Amino acid sequence: MKGSLIIAHRGASAYAPENTIASFLKAIEMNSDGIELDVHMTKDKALVVCHDETVNRTTNGDGFIKDHTLQEIKELDAGSWFGEQFRGEKIPVLEEVMDLIKDKDMLLNIELKNAPILYEGIEKRVIDIIKSYNMEERVIISSFNHFSLIEVKKYNPKIKTGVLYMAGLVEPWVYAKRLKADALHPLFYNLMIPEIVKGCQENGIMLNPFTVDDDKFIAAMIKLNVNGIITNYPDRGIKIRDNI
Ligand code: G3P
Ligand code: CA
Repeated sequence: MKGSLIIAHRGASAYAPENTIASFLKAIEMNSDGIELDVHMTKDKALVVCHDETVNRTTNGDGFIKDHTLQEIKELDAGSWFGEQFRGEKIPVLEEVMDLIKDKDMLLNIELKNAPILYEGIEKRVIDIIKSYNMEERVIISSFNHFSLIEVKKYNPKIKTGVLYMAGLVEPWVYAKRLKADALHPLFYNLMIPEIVKGCQENGIMLNPFTVDDDKFIAAMIKLNVNGIITNYPDRGIKIRDNI
C-alpha cells in the first residue's frame, strides 16, 4: 500500500513560482500524487489560479483579480518575482491545469478562495468545469468558506469536499459530517494528535493537513497514516514515505 498521498501545495512551490504551470509541471516531475491550487474569479468570470485576491505579491501588476479581465490578467508576469528564469510565466486558468493532469493518475485539490471577497456562483462554475473534464472522482474542493462547501454538495453531492480550518477544533469530524464533507484540511501545528486521526478514521472522514514541510513532521504524519499531506516539498514527502 502506498500510504499517505503527497499533495503539492500550489504545485511544487518551494521550487517554482506558486500556482503556475512551471510549479505544476515540477510537481508532476517529482511524482506527486496530487496538486493543490487556489481559484479566484475575474471581472469577466474566468476562473484563475492564484493564491491572493490581488495580483500584487506574485506578479508585476497590481489590484484585485475581481477588477481585472482575463485578458489583463494574462498580460502579467507571474514568474520573475520568484526567479529570473521563470520570467514570462502566466497566471493559469483552471482549465489549463486540468489539461495538464487529465491523463495522469493525480488528485486535484481545488481551493475556492471565496472569503472575504465573495465570488457569486463560483461553486457552480468550478463544478461545471470539473464535469466537462469528467474528473468528479479525482477532485476535492476545499474552502475556508464552509458555506461554499455546502453549496458544492447541493449542486453535486458526488464531488468531495474538504473543510479548511486553522484552529484546534474538538471532534472536528462531527462538524465535517454536519457539512456532509468528505475531508478535513487542518492547518498543521502539533494539533494532529492521534486522537483526531483516530476520530476521522473511525468516522470515514479523510484527513489532509497543510502545510507540512518539515521532514520530522512529514514522517510523523505518514506514520499516523493521514490520507494526504499538503506540502511545498513533494520530493521530500515521497522520499520519506518510500523509506518508512
Ligand atoms: O489548502 C491548504 C492551504 O493551501 C490553505 O491555505 O493560505 O495556503 O491557501 P493557503
Ligand atoms: Ca490553498
